[in-house]
Amino acid sequence: MTKLWTSVTVGRMKLAHRLAMAPMTRSRALPDGTPGELSPLYYAQRASLGLLISEGTQPSDDGQGYLFTPGIYTDKHIEGWKRVADRVHAAGGHLFIQLMHVGRISHPDNTPHHRQPLAPSAIAPGIPMFTLSGMQEIPVPRAMTLDDVHRAVDEFRSAAAAAVKAGADGVEIHGANGYLVHQFLAENANVRADAYGGSPENRARFGIEVARAVTQEIGADRTGFRISPGSSAGGLDEGPHGLEVYRTLIPQLAELNLAYLHVLHAGNEEFLKEIRVLWPHALLVNRAGRPLERLSVDVDEGIADVAPVGTWALANPDLVDRLKSGAPLNPADPATFYGGDAHGYTDYPTMTD
Ligand SMILES: Cc1cc2nc3c(=O)[nH]c(=O)nc-3n(C[C@H](O)[C@H](O)[C@H](O)COP(=O)(O)O)c2cc1C
Repeated sequence: MTKLWTSVTVGRMKLAHRLAMAPMTRSRALPDGTPGELSPLYYAQRASLGLLISEGTQPSDDGQGYLFTPGIYTDKHIEGWKRVADRVHAAGGHLFIQLMHVGRISHPDNTPHHRQPLAPSAIAPGIPMFTLSGMQEIPVPRAMTLDDVHRAVDEFRSAAAAAVKAGADGVEIHGANGYLVHQFLAENANVRADAYGGSPENRARFGIEVARAVTQEIGADRTGFRISPGSSAGGLDEGPHGLEVYRTLIPQLAELNLAYLHVLHAGNEEFLKEIRVLWPHALLVNRAGRPLERLSVDVDEGIADVAPVGTWALANPDLVDRLKSGAPLNPADPATFYGGDAHGYTDYPTMTD
């Protein structure tokens, strides 16, 4: 009997089972960053997953990288997210908004203010990005001054307040996948000589400050944090001391009593076990690319408390019912992942459709 269908407490939420929806960018927000009209329906359709972690959501103009991603820093954004949170709650789910500041993974053509992207250091990621005029090389970012660093921390703080104002149950700080928090952690994107670069303590400092600011603003039991140790997303190389940075970061986050740590796990099994020891609170493990029959392994073996799912949740609004009854799953259609309309968004059929 799998533990997947047993209840678990995460922060102030009592969840009925151990699945959750992993954060997924869908690029269907309005041009001003307000969640799109279909967004409440999309999330509510998936409410039986219990905890829904939203698509990456920028806390400021600087924080945007991709086209049509939502924000959570204007009154319109708050109204839009309120419509989402209300529908999700009415359907019995919980909503955490993922706060994603992309740092250098941006292009001036894609942001409201069209400014040079900000990053720990003036080092381009060396990858292209989709813009309205096609794929373009991501430019060299401007190295953040200390004022920029403090402002970015504050943007996370006020975005968290806005998320709670919108009725969200909490926020997930995006410290994974090559975006701003991760850029501070990684050796090849952060060559700063001040208190935010160099030693593992210094590299972890920005993420800790963000987490502290958010917990002070909305409470630790409403705050989650996502990491992806070893990931080279966004052109990152954490370098030979990469794990040391996480060994510094994770215990300090643990002291803040966050609701959860969310690991996007890419293969270092020993380190995952180490994280389990370093982290005394709820641990979410999303194992990219696992086959369906291995979905419950981490929960059953006690390595994880919750197993968030991405693409299966995207393509199966009734994933929980399907898994419980052994029904086949809809395949996900990658052509409709980013941008577009209801197709590939709110029109995936349930078993009874
Ligand atoms: C369309 C799509 C968009 C994604 N966007 C985000 C995102 O905004 N934030 C994030 O942390 N991860 C994002 N991810 C990664 C997922 O959260 C998840 O880690 C990944 O899909 C692997 O899990 P899976 O095998 O269950 O899909 C995205 C994945 C997909 C497929």
